Amino acid sequence: MKKLEFPKGFYWGTATSAYQVEGGVKNDWSERGSKFDAGIACDHYHRYEEDFDLARAMSNNAHRFSIEWARIEPEEGKFDQKEIEHYREVLLALRQRDLEPFVTLYHWTLPVWFAKKGGWLNKDAPRYFERFVEKVVGEYKDLVKFWIVLNEPIVSTGYGYIKGIWPPFKKLAIFKFIRAFFNLAKAHKKAYKVIHKSIPDAQVSISQMANYFEPARKWCPVEILFARLARFFHGNYFYLLIKDHVDFIGFSYYHHNRIVWRPPFIKNLNKEVSDLGWEIYPEGIYHAIKYLKKYNKPIYVMENGLADIGDKKRAKFIIEHLKWVHKAIEEGVDVRGYFHWSLLDNYEWARYEEGFGPRFGLIEIDYKTLKRIPRESSKVYAEICKNNAISI
Ligand code: FCB
Repeated sequence: MKKLEFPKGFYWGTATSAYQVEGGVKNDWSERGSKFDAGIACDHYHRYEEDFDLARAMSNNAHRFSIEWARIEPEEGKFDQKEIEHYREVLLALRQRDLEPFVTLYHWTLPVWFAKKGGWLNKDAPRYFERFVEKVVGEYKDLVKFWIVLNEPIVSTGYGYIKGIWPPFKKLAIFKFIRAFFNLAKAHKKAYKVIHKSIPDAQVSISQMANYFEPARKWCPVEILFARLARFFHGNYFYLLIKDHVDFIGFSYYHHNRIVWRPPFIKNLNKEVSDLGWEIYPEGIYHAIKYLKKYNKPIYVMENGLADIGDKKRAKFIIEHLKWVHKAIEEGVDVRGYFHWSLLDNYEWARYEEGFGPRFGLIEIDYKTLKRIPRESSKVYAEICKNNAISI
């Protein structure tokens, strides 16, 4: 048995997003019919204290969640004081439990009025977003240090404007995709400035989806080139656009893609997969970290997890991924936190038929009673967080 310790002060947490767990949200998704309506979800909106107790019971010292823009500004320019107070209570509840809040400002859902104006395609979109951020930061500046302005911009724009299966349902709309993408970068930069104006020592960034693309044949120039291009556009390009406006590098790691030279271009070996058929490939998190090291900023794993209803693979998954994170730290990379996706089972968007089908939670949700049932793997994660170490 070998003990691998993590640096002192390492942040251990879980991640969620408002729409996926809160329930009772009216936004650009909920309006699109049952497949897109998260309904009551986990009713986290009313049960956050119980949920944070569970996080604390896992010896977490941090928690990532998002603030729903549609709640704060349900109508253009009109801020809802009751909802502002709600999130203040949420933040206080975290602080009372010594859970450092990591706050996401855009986790893919939008107020209906903003979507009606064209959403991220509107030329003034960054300004609208800036106004929302200004409000939020003004309210919570004494409670929040870590801000994740955007969650995985490549994913929401890809699904919304290329695949066309998420709002706003545009298929292969390349120019719209580009416009939304660049507007998101602009919006980020504005938010960065607004946050730093109010909170000089704030830590601001995004969470970027960082897949590990690898040539299937290490010697094949075409596959090497394709893998490099994929990594650049998928995992790096957005950071390049905003690199002077980030204080740390946040990323999520879920996917390994073995690149081959001809369609369908991705051929994974899939020796082990999650319930969603996503390949489990822990080593990839190490490569993702090494790839993002070039920015010379502290790095945080903002999401990593799997759908595993039987909880057969989760504990091993966590340990194996952390082993590779630890290796990167040992080699001198400044990794400062790990957030498991997710605290609770939740609404898994509309990637698949069943939004509530995939079970990503360390805590199981019985959707009939909304009872929270800690899975066995949550005990393993709790030990890790408590000891600030893994044993292998
Ligand atoms: C990430 C999303 C998160 C969740 C996980 C499984 O890409 O940021 O909301 O859906 O995938």
